[in-house]
Amino acid sequence: MTQASGGPERTRTNRARLAHKIRYAARRPDRIWPYLRRLGRDWKLRLTSRDHVAYYRAVMKADAARSPAAAVGSASYERWLALGQMQFDYLVRHGLTPSDRMLEIGCGNLRAGWRFIDHLDTGHYHGIDISPDILLAAGDTLAQRGLQDKLPHLSLVRDLRMATLPSGHFTVVHAHSVFSHSPIEVIDECLAHVGRVMAPDAFFDFTFNRTEGREHHVLREDFYYRTETLIELAASHGFAARFMDDWEQLPHKQSKIRITALP
Ligand SMILES: C[S@@+](CC[C@H](N)C(=O)[O-])C[C@H]1O[C@@H](n2cnc3c(N)ncnc32)[C@H](O)[C@@H]1O
Repeated sequence: MTQASGGPERTRTNRARLAHKIRYAARRPDRIWPYLRRLGRDWKLRLTSRDHVAYYRAVMKADAARSPAAAVGSASYERWLALGQMQFDYLVRHGLTPSDRMLEIGCGNLRAGWRFIDHLDTGHYHGIDISPDILLAAGDTLAQRGLQDKLPHLSLVRDLRMATLPSGHFTVVHAHSVFSHSPIEVIDECLAHVGRVMAPDAFFDFTFNRTEGREHHVLREDFYYRTETLIELAASHGFAARFMDDWEQLPHKQSKIRITALP
């Protein structure tokens, strides 16, 4: 496995440990107050949300009200553009053609989605998300980019059972920076159902926060998994899974796995 961007520290650090938090706070005192705000929100939302999806939907509501670009993890519009470009270029290098039928899980405000919509044939893009607020922002992106005639589908979902989607339809499934915010039961639900909507030769690429140490999470917002955990989970749902080494060369802190049907 090639070294991930961010150096070995990225995959060895346990961000949930108090010692790490103290070291980090000493290095970045400017981050203390934002972290305390997130901690307060985390407590409140844990008490008032019935499950993780409700919790994360509330996180997105608060974050999207401030800035949709920041809500999907980009500190500036330039970074938003660059991160979308990176996702797009990667899939095109891996053979994404206009005739592909794409499902984007957790499409956000179409950071990459608008580029996929532009590239794909009319009606070939379907984005799903749990957050009504970010889907409204996705509509804004679509209008700003003048892509109405491409007739993309954007759906609000409450889970990842994909009950409304057609069987055997999608040739490419993409989830960027979604499992990094998901507990294992949400990933398990996705893997239990995504196979039904995938065409026989389809692949599903997803990114995740990789740890080579103990699996952990920071608040209920950021989850860190070992590669083997996700590969074994995929296998338990009848998929072959492959760690994408070439993604590690890119300037991004998450890793990527591709799953396909077993031959
Ligand atoms: C960090 S943003 C990334 C958005 C987009 N993939 C991108 O790269 O710009 C994560 C997105 O996933 C959505 N999301 C989180 N958990 C989800 C779930 N279980 N099902 C569907 N969408 C989810 C969030 O609402 C948010 O829009």
